[in-house]
Amino acid sequence: MSQLVLAVLISGSGSNLQAIIDAIEAGTLNARIACVLSNNPDAYGLQRATRHRLPVEIIDHRSYPSREQYDAELRRRLEAIAPDYIVLAGYMRILSAEFVRAFEHRILNIHPALLPAYKGLDTHQRALDNGETEHGVSIHLVTAELDDGPVLLQASYPIENGDSVADLRTRGQRLEHQMYPTVLRWISENKLIIDDHGQIHHDQTLLDNPLQFSA
Ligand code: GRF
Repeated sequence: MSQLVLAVLISGSGSNLQAIIDAIEAGTLNARIACVLSNNPDAYGLQRATRHRLPVEIIDHRSYPSREQYDAELRRRLEAIAPDYIVLAGYMRILSAEFVRAFEHRILNIHPALLPAYKGLDTHQRALDNGETEHGVSIHLVTAELDDGPVLLQASYPIENGDSVADLRTRGQRLEHQMYPTVLRWISENKLIIDDHGQIHHDQTLLDNPLQFSA
């Protein structure tokens, strides 16, 4: 079992970051957050990181004329940190293909839907508009296509009559905060292995369907 070195990328509240910090501090996740990086100087998650004495870096995307230039700077900073995994936790920017290639199979994202359904934004509203009876959360490997990489872990929850977007978000986030630390722990324990081809192995078996998380 080895200690995972993580870089966590955020844009906002950072409640998933908090869940990862809490798991590390509780001793249930053998990892070290080498850096919390935000594109948004006002992200509340930066305060969470500072409170826990974690190194933070802000790269304000508004100071860069193009996505490529922004991503080149992000890449430079991350290469200096050399994390085992880049953990996207509410990071609200699309990553360029070149960036993804530089850290291929080493970027994880959490998405509030049962991928491949509901890629992109406003997943809760769209699920309600479509009269879905369930929704969920996915943790996946990041590829150059938006919300498209192989899914490691999924959890679903029912949509009840009269539910609002806020209800779904609350239900989903309760799961998210357990799922990210769990996946990272499995990776640190080699229970989950992402190989050099981006294939996922669970307990020595090639994963052809996402693992299902139950709280
Ligand atoms: C999460 O709900 C996640 O699914 C989505 O962005 C949100 C981030 O929340 N990708 P937080 O910043 O971790 O509180």
